[in-house]
Amino acid sequence: MLFNFEAAPTLDLKGIQRSVTGYQLIGTKDRPGRVRGVEGLHSPMVGRDGELEQIKNSVMSMNRQSGGGFAMVFGEAGIGKSRLIAELKSRVRDESISVFEGHSLTYRRSVAYWIFLDLMRNYLGVSANAPEAQVRAQLANRVEAVLGNHAAEVIPYLEHLLSLKPTSTTAAARISQLDADQLRQQIFITVRDLFIAESKQQPVLLILDDLHWADDASLDLLRFMLDALQSAPLFICGISRPVDDGALTKIVEQAQNRLQEDCMRSSCKRKRLLRHRRSPDPRRTPRASRSPHPRLADGRGPPNAA
Ligand SMILES: Nc1ncnc2c1ncn2[C@@H]1O[C@H](COP(=O)(O)OP(=O)(O)OP(=O)(O)O)[C@@H](O)[C@H]1O
Ligand SMILES: [Mg+2]
Repeated sequence: MLFNFEAAPTLDLKGIQRSVTGYQLIGTKDRPGRVRGVEGLHSPMVGRDGELEQIKNSVMSMNRQSGGGFAMVFGEAGIGKSRLIAELKSRVRDESISVFEGHSLTYRRSVAYWIFLDLMRNYLGVSANAPEAQVRAQLANRVEAVLGNHAAEVIPYLEHLLSLKPTSTTAAARISQLDADQLRQQIFITVRDLFIAESKQQPVLLILDDLHWADDASLDLLRFMLDALQSAPLFICGISRPVDDGALTKIVEQAQNRLQEDCMRSSCKRKRLLRHRRSPDPRRTPRASRSPHPRLADGRGPPNAA
């Protein structure tokens, strides 16, 4: 857990000759601040125009007819993955695309669904420290705005996911009858359908950063969400350092296969989908030969690609 502190007046302590600076604990941090560079100082991005253009074109090409897409940015720590996607965000801001993001944290690896919890808080516009009543009210408002009459069916599962006190005791009793697999399945369907519904109002870009720290439940939910990309203008962009467990590599392969199948089924002319760059298994990639650039494995190539 990380904390916010505020400098307190200097203290004169018994037995210590010098005055000592004290700090007052303010509360927990939602997420770590910048770990590199200087807070508040930003230099222009250099040398990533090709990657940025490629991923931006992929995101911009999603629509109701052709569905969404998937991109995965792999690269070593500090190489500029998050920066690349931050630039992407600023480029699509004015393009009527809703952008929501979740971050994994190394010290949250033991919390199931952490990255989706973070994503949901971002979606609802609430901080990790927000009072429960505020989160519940925001959840009800947002889900009702998107799902209308169906909201009452899904809110109990989202409350459960977010560890909120249930609003409906009847629904809570029904959930308590489900076994673990059934509950997990319902949570998966609920999260997927919520973002599908959201994307039908306006295309959605979901950014999932630092997936190398994601817990298994989050990765399973991410894999489940891939089904939505064929039918809805929903684009998922994952970011990760090279990983050794292969779970993310499988997700990328699955995304490529799904989008490729869909493309062939609908006789889509975008042959570029058949030319995905495969993301090499990092286990077989010697460290020294790894690219100094973030590696893009995407489910939508640039529109002008052959
Ligand atoms: N192309 C670039 N031009 C200018 N600054 C850059 C560029 N790429 C990265 N930076 C800067 O380098 C620092 C590290 O980049 P970033 O945080 O994006 O790395 P990362 O790959 O996401 O690392 P990690 O795996 O630790 O999250 C940041 O301050 C970022 O603004
Ligand atoms: Mg990063």
